[in-house]
Order: sequence, then C-alpha cells, then structure tokens
Amino acid sequence: MRPVILRGKAVSLGVLTRDDLRRLWEWYNDRSIQLFLQRPWEVLTYEDEVEWYERVRRNSERERVFGIIENPTQDLVGVIGLSKIDPWDGHAEVGYYLSKEHWGQGYAREALSLIITYAFDWMNLRKLYANVYEPNEASIRVLEANGFRLAGRFRRHHHVPGTGYVDMLVYELLRDE
Ligand SMILES: CC(C)(COP(=O)(O)OP(=O)(O)OC[C@H]1O[C@@H](n2cnc3c(N)ncnc32)[C@H](O)[C@@H]1OP(=O)(O)O)[C@@H](O)C(=O)NCCC(=O)NCCS
Repeated sequence: MRPVILRGKAVSLGVLTRDDLRRLWEWYNDRSIQLFLQRPWEVLTYEDEVEWYERVRRNSERERVFGIIENPTQDLVGVIGLSKIDPWDGHAEVGYYLSKEHWGQGYAREALSLIITYAFDWMNLRKLYANVYEPNEASIRVLEANGFRLAGRFRRHHHVPGTGYVDMLVYELLRDE
C-alpha cells in the first residue's frame, strides 16, 4: 500500500513511486494534457521521466510532488506539486495535471485544497502562486474555487499551439487572507 500524506473525500495525496512513472510518462506525452502546460512541444522518453523523478527526489527542499489518488479505487489519477520552494520568503509555485479520463470530477479542485493544507499547515509556507494561461478555463476555476486571486497578467506571453499568443495570468493565495 502506498503511504497517504493527506486524505480528502474523493482523492488523497500519496507518495509517488517508481512504479507510477510509466503512467506519468504516458500522460505527460498526451498533447491534450500538454496543451496548456509550459512546454507543449516537449516529448519525453521514459529515461527522461525517470531522470525527472530522481531530480525531484534529490531536490526535495525545493520541490515536492505527490500522486493524486482516487480514494475508492486507490488508482493514481494525476500529480500535483510544489516547486521553487523558498523557505526564507515562505512561498512556492503550485502545478498539477490529471489523466484525461479523470477530468471534470472535481479531483483537481480537491487535490489543490489538500496541497494548500500541506503547504500552509505542514511546511509553514505563507504564500502559494500559480501561472496559468488565459484559455485554460478549467484550471482558472480550480484556482479561484480554492481562493486564489488574480495578481497580474503578462500580456501575449506564451504560445499555445492552434491558438497563438495568449496572456499568462499569475494567481496567488496568502495563508492569512
Ligand atoms: C486543469 C485540470 C487539472 C482540471 O482538472 P479537473 O479535475 O477536470 O478539474 P475539476 O473537475 O476539479 O474542476 C474543473 C472546473 O472547470 C470547469 N471546466 C472544465 N472544463 C472547462 C472549460 N473548457 N471551460 C470552462 N470551464 C471548464 C468544470 O466545470 C469545473 O468547474 P466547477 O468546479 O465550477 O464545476 C485538468 O483539466 C488538466 O489536467 N489539464 C491539463 C494540465 C493543466 O492544464 N494543468 C494546469 C496548468 S496551470
């Protein structure tokens, strides 16, 4: 059984293992998942995926990644993580993706609420932020549903395949708000 770090109603945050990497590798190469990520053109080999896992593992002071686990089935359905963790200023960036077959069930919303608890209550961070591209309405809803507020926008900052240059929105959440 995989250790669970924080349990929610529908999903939990669990420790990511090497056995998960095949699925993450498939999902990360899925263009519909990549469309609104930072490097939509990126293609990973399985070895790249393993290297990424090892890099995150070695760099756990600056980066933490969890599996999003569906409670009834115990299946891995996505990943969510903190990067650029800055213990001095007490902030970190949050990012996530779910396997396509599990979109639209409120899983990202709950996973984000769990990682907020982890960041604020367990890591004693005081601020989280996320960069999201304007056409990514699902992700914007997930952030706003968890209390993130729009802090600013970089205009026509990023190229989305098939759409063109779009604004990058910066969302932030302060612990004491
Ligand atoms: C963004 C993502 C994580 C959302 O996951 P999810 O589990 O489907 O999200 P949820 O079900 O928790 O919530 C999605 C919300 O967006 C809404 N939504 C979904 N698609 C939408 C669309 N195309 N337009 C508008 N709203 C949309 C849903 O109705 C839901 O709203 P509600 O909570 O008010 O009912 C998922 O689509 C994904 O993995 N995308 C690819 C990777 C990615 O973009 N990651 C985020 C980078 S910032």
